[in-house]
Amino acid sequence: MIKISPSILSADFAKLGEQIERLNSSDVEMVHIDVMDGSFVPNITFGAPVMKCIRKYTDKIFDVHLMIEEPARYIEDFVKAGADIITVHYEADRHIDRTVNYIKSFGVKAGVALNPGTPVSVLENIINSVDMVLIMTVNPGFGGQKYIEYCSEKVKEVKALSEKRNKELMIQVDGGIDASNIKYVVECGANVIVAGSAVFKNDAIEENVQKLREALK
Ligand code: DX5
Ligand code: ZN
Repeated sequence: MIKISPSILSADFAKLGEQIERLNSSDVEMVHIDVMDGSFVPNITFGAPVMKCIRKYTDKIFDVHLMIEEPARYIEDFVKAGADIITVHYEADRHIDRTVNYIKSFGVKAGVALNPGTPVSVLENIINSVDMVLIMTVNPGFGGQKYIEYCSEKVKEVKALSEKRNKELMIQVDGGIDASNIKYVVECGANVIVAGSAVFKNDAIEENVQKLREALK
């Protein structure tokens, strides 16, 4: 079963609650929440207080993607604000093993994200402890960028690692995914698909999700 996780980075922030309610009647399993600090990535979005406000609009899984330096400082805040999965960047944390276990100590699932330039081999020692690996298929910071083709090979590598070491692993891809390439990334091994602009464009959330589901057939 392939899960779709719409990224609210591409939503209309002036009517965020309403747009999240529209996801309730769409064929998606998660809500992808992109938190950016203007330091790890060259953009700033929002933090736990905003997330707490939108939590009351849906029961969907809150899939929180922290693009912030030293993310361990904020894990507890995001847990309290209603996170179900928290993903931190390998590149932003000197103690990734400790942080993964810290996230899990709150009873939420832990993910580790890799930028395009970071090799999959850095996951070898922690692959048994993580619930999800996020392969960035664009350089993080902005929605609406073009899919970076060489990242497909990384998704295949994570899939191979998962077959050997962690069969339950969620393999998430994020960046530049739309109806034209969603099936391809799934064939490479992804099972959780983030889509921002492909879901929120033209204020046609429900139809856009349907198009992605159709493209998966
Ligand atoms: C990029 C974010 C993505 C982004 C995806 O830094 O992590 O989640 O919103 O947007 P699209 O699907 O438009 O590439
Ligand atoms: Zn993201």
